[in-house]
Amino acid sequence: MEWATTTLALYGTGAAALATSVLTLRRRLDLSQAKHRSLAGHARMARRLAAFVPFYDYDEARFFSSDGAPAEIAAQRRAGFERLSALYRTRFAETIRRTAEAAADISDLQFTGAYRVPFQYSRYVRAHLPAAAFVQSSDGVTLTDLDGNRAYDLSGSYGVNLFGYDFYKDAIERGAARARALGPVLGSYHPAIIENVKLLKEISGLDEVSFHMSGTEAVMQAVRLARYHTQRSHLVRFCGAYHGWWGDVQPGIGNPLPAHETYTLEDLSEQTLRVLRARDDIACVLVNPLQALHTNASAPSDSALVDSSRRARFDKATYGDWLRRLRAACDERGIVLIFDEVLVGFRLARGGAQEYFGVRADLVTYGKTLGGGLPIGVVCGRGELMKRFRDDRPADICFARGTFNAHPYVMAAMNEFLRHLRTPEAQACYRDLDRIWDDRAARLNERLRAEALPLEIANLSSIWTVCYTLPCRYNWMLQYYLRAEGLALSWIGTGRLIFSLNYTDDDFAAVADRFVAAARAMRLDGWWWHNPALTNKSIKRTVLKEMIARRLFARDDRREH
Ligand SMILES: Cc1ncc(COP(=O)(O)O)c(C=O)c1O
Repeated sequence: MEWATTTLALYGTGAAALATSVLTLRRRLDLSQAKHRSLAGHARMARRLAAFVPFYDYDEARFFSSDGAPAEIAAQRRAGFERLSALYRTRFAETIRRTAEAAADISDLQFTGAYRVPFQYSRYVRAHLPAAAFVQSSDGVTLTDLDGNRAYDLSGSYGVNLFGYDFYKDAIERGAARARALGPVLGSYHPAIIENVKLLKEISGLDEVSFHMSGTEAVMQAVRLARYHTQRSHLVRFCGAYHGWWGDVQPGIGNPLPAHETYTLEDLSEQTLRVLRARDDIACVLVNPLQALHTNASAPSDSALVDSSRRARFDKATYGDWLRRLRAACDERGIVLIFDEVLVGFRLARGGAQEYFGVRADLVTYGKTLGGGLPIGVVCGRGELMKRFRDDRPADICFARGTFNAHPYVMAAMNEFLRHLRTPEAQACYRDLDRIWDDRAARLNERLRAEALPLEIANLSSIWTVCYTLPCRYNWMLQYYLRAEGLALSWIGTGRLIFSLNYTDDDFAAVADRFVAAARAMRLDGWWWHNPALTNKSIKRTVLKEMIARRLFARDDRREH
C-alpha cells in the first residue's frame, strides 16, 4: 500500500513537472513568436552580430561606383561631389573650422560626425563635406550659422521646438525674471510649480506629477514605479521604439550590457497580446506613439540608409485600435500602461497622444518642449502608482530624487509654456493641425512625383521622414544637397524632419522649393542612376559579402575594393 502511494506520488510529481515544463516551453515559444522578424526585434542577437561587423571603407574610385555604375556616371557624381565640397568650404568656412577644432575635445561631436552616413562612405564624406555644428542665432523658422548663412530649420531641436524659437526665448526670459529673486535654490520649490502641477493634471487627466531632468530620467522613474507597485520584473518595449538611453529601454545595439529584464515585442501583433495575457512577470508596457509612423522599425537615421528599404506610413485608425486592444490586455493582467510622450506630447494635440488616439495610459512621460526651452522630464500618473512608499511597510520604498529636479528656472519657463497652451493663439495652432501638415506633405509628394524624383514623404503630423522609392546606395547624399539649399537638418539627416508649428504657408513653400531643387541637383549629379538589376536585396547582399570578405581577409590598409 505504502509502495503504491509512493509510486503514485512519484507519478504525480513527474506529471506536474512535465506539465510545468510544457507550460514553460509554451511560454518561451509564445515569447519568441511575439518578436518581430527583423534584427531590431532581436535585441540580443543584434548586439552580438554588431560586434562582428568589421570596419572597412571605400577608396575614392569605389566611393563613386559602389553600385556598379559605369565610368561616366561615376565621373558625373565626382564632379557633383567636388562642386558641393567647394561650396561647403567657402560658404560654411568659419562654421566648419570651429566645428573641426571643437570636435577634438567634444566626444558627442565625434560620434555624430562619424554616423551621418553609412560607415563605408563616412571617412571620405567627412574629409570633403565636413559637418558644421555651430549656429549663432535663431529667428522665426530659421537658424544662422557662424558664416551668416540663414537656413530653414527642419531639425526642430530634437522636437523641443514646437511653437518657434522666439516663443521659447521669451518663455526663458520671462521665466528667468520670475525666478530671479529665488535663484538656483533647490530642495524648496518656486511657487510656479503649483500651477504647473494643476495644468499638467488637467492636460494628462492623471492625479499626480513628478519632475525630473530629462526624458530618459522620466522613463526610468515610470518603469521603476511600475515595477515597485506590480512587484514584477519585466518591461515590454516595442521593436524599434526609442525611450532614451537608459540601459533597460535600450537592450540592443548601443548598450554594452544586455538588458535581462526587458522584452522587445512586435507592435500591432496578436502574438504580443497573447504574451501579455499569458505571462506573470510583466510590470509595464512602454509605448512611444511615434512608432505609429514607422512601426517595428528603429529611428530612421541616414547612417542606416544602405539601400532604399526605409518604409514609413501612418494610419491613425489602425494604430488607435491597437492602443485600445493593448489597453484592454493591460487591464486584464494588471500591467501598467505607460505612454512615453517625451517627443509627441503637446505636438499631436494639446492633450498629446492620449487625446489624439483616444486612449488613456496609467503613467505618461513628458519632456522636451514642456520645459519652455529648458531641460525637463515629467511623469504624470494615477495616484496609487505614483506613491513611493508603503504605509504598512515603511522600509519598502521606491527611491527617486535628483538634485536639479523642479529647478526654479525650469519651473518658471515651464509655467510660461503651460500658460501659453491656454491662449487662443496656441489653441489656433492645434486646430486643423493634421490637415495642415498632411496637405503640405501631400503637395510636396505631388511635386516629387510630377518630376519623377525617387522620394516620398511620410508624416505623423509635423514629424516627417523621407522614404526613397528607387533601390539606391546613395540616398544619404540628399542631406548634403538639402543643406546646400539652405535647409538645416539634425545629425540623423533625412530620417527625421521636425517642423515647428509657426511655419507659415509661405515658409513652407520656400522649404518645398528648396527640397525639390536639392533633389533635382542630386539627380543631375547622377546619384540616382539606376541599373534595373539593382534591388534593395541585392544591395544588402553586396554589403554582407563585403563584410564577410573583410572579416575573412582583413588587410591593414582598411580599404575594400
Ligand atoms: C520618446 C522619447 N523618450 C525619451 C527620450 C529621452 O529624452 P531625453 O533626450 O530628454 O533624455 C526621447 C528623446 O528623444 C524620446 O523621443
